[in-house]
Order: sequence, then C-alpha cells, then structure tokens
Amino acid sequence: MHSFVFLLAAALVGRSAAYDSQFKFDAAPIVETRSIDEIHQAALAEGGVVTCWHGGDEKTQQDGLKQAFEERFPGMTLNITVDLSKYHDVNIDQQLATDSLYVDSVILQTLHDFPRWDQEGALLHYAPQGFSDLHPNFRDVRAAWYGIAVFGWTFIVNSDKLDAAPKEFPDFLKPEFKDKLVLTYPNDDDAVLYAFDLIMQQYGYGWFESLLAQNPRWVRGTATPVTLIATPNNTLSATFTSAVGLTPPAPLNISIPTEGTFVTWPQRGAILKNAPHPEGAKLLHNFILTQDHQKNLGSWSVRKDVPAPAGFADIMDIPATNPTEFERFMGDRARVERLKLFFEDKIGTAQGLSPLIDDL
Ligand SMILES: *[C@@H]1O[C@H](CO)[C@@H](O)[C@H](O)[C@H]1NC(C)=O
Ligand SMILES: *[C@@H]1O[C@H](CO)[C@@H](O)[C@H](O)[C@H]1NC(C)=O
Ligand SMILES: *[C@@H]1O[C@H](CO)[C@@H](O)[C@H](O)[C@H]1NC(C)=O
Repeated sequence: MHSFVFLLAAALVGRSAAYDSQFKFDAAPIVETRSIDEIHQAALAEGGVVTCWHGGDEKTQQDGLKQAFEERFPGMTLNITVDLSKYHDVNIDQQLATDSLYVDSVILQTLHDFPRWDQEGALLHYAPQGFSDLHPNFRDVRAAWYGIAVFGWTFIVNSDKLDAAPKEFPDFLKPEFKDKLVLTYPNDDDAVLYAFDLIMQQYGYGWFESLLAQNPRWVRGTATPVTLIATPNNTLSATFTSAVGLTPPAPLNISIPTEGTFVTWPQRGAILKNAPHPEGAKLLHNFILTQDHQKNLGSWSVRKDVPAPAGFADIMDIPATNPTEFERFMGDRARVERLKLFFEDKIGTAQGLSPLIDDL
C-alpha cells in the first residue's frame, strides 16, 4: 500500500517537473546594464521578432502595445497573441512538455503558474531596467517574474444611458439597475470569481440573490460588458466586472468602493528560459517597465515612482483593495474550483464561444 502511494506520488511529481530546480543553487538573475538601444540592436541581430502570449479577452486588446513597441523600435515585430490566460497557460505547458517552445514572453492573469514554472526551471531569471523600482510585492526576489501593469475591476456606468453613481456593491441592487447590468460569468474568469467572493464574504449570500432578481445579462469575457454598455442602442448601462482605466472617455464614468473590497492585481510577466528570441523578449519587458510606458497605461503603475492618475491614491494606500492578495486566491485551486461550481449551479455554464471568437 505504502509503496503504491509512493509510486503514485512519484508519478504525479514526475509529470509536472523533471527535477526540483531549487537545489541547483544557481538562481541569481542576469541584471540588465545595457541601454535600451543596445538591447534593440541585440534583438535585431537575433531576428527582430518577439512572440508574446498575453492574457485578455479580445484579439485586438494589445494592439496599442504592439503599435507603441514597433514605432519605438524600428525593425522589430511584436508577434502578440491575446487569449484567456487559462487557455494560454496550458498551451505553454504543452510546449514545455514536448520540447517545442516557440513563445518568448508570457504576460498572464494566472499568477500561480509562475512559481510553478520557475520551480520546473522554465523561466529566465532576468531583471530589466527599473526592476528595483517595482513594488517589492510585485516582483520575484530572483527576477523570474514581475508585475507589468496593475489590472482591476471598477464600477463602470454609461452616463448617457443611466443617471446613477454607484458607491458600494449594494447600490447595484437598487431599482434603477434592474435590467441594466451586464456582468462576466464568475465561473468563466477567476478574477471575476474573486470579485464575487470578496463581495459575498462581506455582504452575504442574500446580496447575490438580490442581484439575480435584477436580471443581469451574463456574458463571456471582461471586455464584453464595456462593449455592450458603450453601444447606444441597448439598455445595458453598468458593470462591475470590467476595466476601462481610471480616466475613461465620456460617457463612461468609473468609481471605486470605499466600504466594499474590489479586485486589483499585478498582471504577471516572465521570459521563458528556452525562448527562441530572448533578446526580443528582454527588449519588450524593458520597454513595458519604462516610466513613460507605465504613465500611459491609464491605471495604477507597478512602479513605485509613477504616481497614480489624478484623483486616486497610490495602489498600496487604498484600503478597499489589496493587489497582492489575488495570488493567494489563485493559488488555492481546490477552493477556486468549488466556488466556480457554486456559481455554475446558480447561473449555468458560461454560454457562447470564447469571447475571442464570439460575434457580438
Ligand atoms: C507568431 O506567433 C504565432 C502564434 O503564437 C506562431 O505560430 C508563429 O510561429 C510566430 N511567428 C514567429 C515569426 O515567431
Ligand atoms: C460622469 O462624469 C462626468 C465627467 O466626465 C461628470 O460631469 C458627471 O457628473 C459624471 N456623472 C455621474 C453620474 O457621476
Ligand atoms: C446595435 O448596434 C450595433 C453596433 O453598431 C449593431 O451591430 C447591432 O446590430 C445594433 N442592434 C440593434 C438591435 O439595432
């Protein structure tokens, strides 16, 4: 019996990691000392391409990053693919397992993957310029991974369609939001699941029952609510499962709660150790972490030395959110799975194709 259990455990461990890389004692990072133009030259000499898999829910969501990168670095191509992080990560695992890695850079919401990949020896320990200016909680001590942008969900209302300014989660239960809410399935996106977890730990199950009575429209993807709210010819007007930055264009208004807790997290990036274009990946990560790029993101920065957009406190000084807690939530996969099934039972499985191929 014992030897059977041992063999089973050995087989399971063997499947996820060939060996435990911590005992190689060779984790010191490469610390970047070159100028960004020198890295640019090295990336051009390597072939001028970087393949990045980025978490998200619309194919075009990172077109701005591609354009900014390619304009700043002539001759470079940013070969970027946006898909749900939960689909990207398993495909990275397959590439690693079959020794067929062609992705250079991963930037994902699945924060729990990164320590695992690092223990498997899959990540390059590399500190880009500005690494030490990142919030300490956003970076691995050996620079295997680090936050590259702060993501999070705010309250979003189209003020042309609805004259309302929600201040706390119970406000969405008021009559003016009936038939007006569009929300992402919590059982389809772990960061939305975390939002429902935080809300219901605070306001109880009754809050969710009252929410269902508001007849919200459930959709796949966290960009879909914004698309629908911004379209004039429907009545959908508000969400709390999406992001449009902290200074959105009219008629969208955003707000954040002070009593309730809302979700923020540092989207995590890493360079794969056996990447075919390591210099291209280094150039991309250095670029993303520059102060200029961070200032243009329209949200809180992962850098301590880039101030929050006007009117907002620093991300570490907002009592209603804790951006470092998301990793703990994501790391407990058994609890996440139980929560997902709870919501699946109440609102059904997520309907429609992946938002990346869904035709609104
Ligand atoms: C660009 O990315 C796609 C999809 O990830 C991949 O199939 C292709 O090989 C990449 N192209 C280059 C030039 O690396
Ligand atoms: C929405 O934002 C605009 C400024 O962009 C402001 O004038 C307006 O009062 C806001 N509406 C609400 C309901 O807060
Ligand atoms: C609403 O507008 C969108 C985008 O312009 C369009 O695709 C859709 O068909 C319209 N729906 C109705 C019911 O008019």
